[in-house]
This record gives sequence, C-alpha cells and structure tokens, in this order.
Amino acid sequence: MSDTIAILTGASRGIGAAMARSLAKPGTRLITLARREDPELAAYARSQDVQLEQLSVDLSDVQAAESTAERICAALPRDAKRYLLINNAGTVHPVARTDALTDGAAITAAVNLNITAVMLLTARFLAAVTGLQADRRVLSISSGAGRNPTAGWGVYCATKAALDMHARVVKAEQGADGVRIVALAPGIVDTDMQATLRASDPASFPAVARFQDLHATGKLTSPAHVASRLLAYLDREDFGTTEIDDIRNYD
Ligand SMILES: NC(=O)c1ccc[n+]([C@@H]2O[C@H](COP(=O)([O-])OP(=O)(O)OC[C@H]3O[C@@H](n4cnc5c(N)ncnc54)[C@H](OP(=O)(O)O)[C@@H]3O)[C@@H](O)[C@H]2O)c1
Repeated sequence: MSDTIAILTGASRGIGAAMARSLAKPGTRLITLARREDPELAAYARSQDVQLEQLSVDLSDVQAAESTAERICAALPRDAKRYLLINNAGTVHPVARTDALTDGAAITAAVNLNITAVMLLTARFLAAVTGLQADRRVLSISSGAGRNPTAGWGVYCATKAALDMHARVVKAEQGADGVRIVALAPGIVDTDMQATLRASDPASFPAVARFQDLHATGKLTSPAHVASRLLAYLDREDFGTTEIDDIRNYD
C-alpha cells in the first residue's frame, strides 16, 4: 500500500523535474506525465525504492489527455492516505501580439495543454477520490501572467487566468469537506520556459530586455528552490483556504 499517490504533469524538465525528485520518497507512488520520460528520475526512484510510472503523453492532444486521465484515475487504489494531483505542464507559446495571433493550431495546442488537459485530469481525479476519507489536494501551477497582462502573452495570460477561475469553481463545488485546490504562481524560475522568453523577438514581446536582465543579474529562482517551496506549500495545514495564491507572498 502507498501512503501517498501523486500525479504530476510536466515532470521531465524545469519546475516539474525538481518537484518529481522531492516527491519521490519511500511510501509514495508517483505517476508522471510529459511527452518525454526522464531516465535519471527512473534511476533516482529505483534508488529510493519508490514506485514510479512515467507516462509519455502529449497533453496538447485532447484525446490522448482524456484517455490517459481516465486510465490513470480508474486504476487508482482506494486505500492511500493521501492523493495529490499537480497540474504543472504548461507552455508560453505562441508569444505574439494579439494582432498577430493568427496561428490557430498553436493557440489550440496551448489552450489544450494549459487548461483543457488540466480540466480533464482534475475531473477524473475528483471523480476517483470522491467519498474517500483521505487527504486530497490539487495544485495547479499558475502564473502572475494570469492576473496581470503582459504584452505578447495573450494566449498564456488568458489560459492562466482560466486556470485560476477553474480552481475557484472547483473550490465552490467541493465545499469545506471536499478536495482542496490552489492555483499557485511560482515566481520567475530559471527553466527552459524562461530561455524561450529571453530569445523572443522584442516586436512580439516588448519586455524581453527586462527578462534578459533578470537572468543576467541572477534574479531567477532555481527550479529546486521553487519546487521545495511549492511542495512545502502543498503540505500546509491551511492549503486551499486561499485558492488563488503566489509563492512570493511567503518570501
Ligand atoms: N519558469 C517560470 O518562470 C514560470 C513562471 C510562472 C509560471 N510557470 C509555470 O510553471 C509550470 C512549469 O514551467 P517550467 O518553467 O518548468 O516549464 P518548462 O521548463 O518549459 O517545462 C515544461 C514541462 O511541461 C511539459 N510539457 C510541455 N508541453 C507538453 C505537452 N504538450 N504534453 C505534455 N507535457 C508537456 C514538458 O515536458 P515535455 O517537453 O517532455 O513534454 C516539461 O516537463 C508551467 O505551468 C508554467 O506556466 C513558470
């Protein structure tokens, strides 16, 4: 029997990869989803005697997301003490001014990954853990971009705002005794996503110089540091009380 069952998306790189390492503790069964598997995580999990299942899935493919969510949640054992779903996978593509957001396929892929897959996974998770007397928590990794507009990030800002509202609706439906949820912004973190942003065309992303400067002056947080703070937040006694939050509120 596992004490904790944790489902984590976007575990192959960045913040998710760092969270996966911290979650991989004896007593935890960890299920990860990303397009690529992480052989180092597999070796680490073996060394920690952790049950790990890495699922290769493109979460921007709605059918693949739907069937994977259904398969994982239908097979969840019902005797764990704790059930966690961490919706972390996300993309900042396409970076473009709203008058140049003409690539429907790119917009659809981002919407599918950043919000549709989150809704599908959360739905199956909620259905699977309803009625269990266990501790049940959903953490959706949001962004300050969902709360404040940034020129060039029309799709990203809109999807993260949607993620926040999704968390509010889940909370409204679940009530005091139900599954707890928080949409949590992680701050500015030194990952591939930031590298992509720094390489953006200033015509598409006018604040690019500020992001290059933050990186050059060592202002980005490391994925490992942020991951430990996000997971400490996930353990908080009052988790879910504030369903829209920012880890920088606790600096
Ligand atoms: N970095 C920041 O400064 C920052 C700030 C605010 C919020 N965030 C949020 O934090 C979360 C993690 O960001 P990060 O910076 O760690 O990003 P990252 O380094 O770009 O990693 C993204 C993760 O998502 C997975 N992913 C991307 N596309 C996918 C797809 N189509 N299907 C399945 N998995 C996919 C990637 O794995 P594969 O490529 O193997 O699929 C990877 O594991 C995101 O939700 C992001 O919006 C980040």
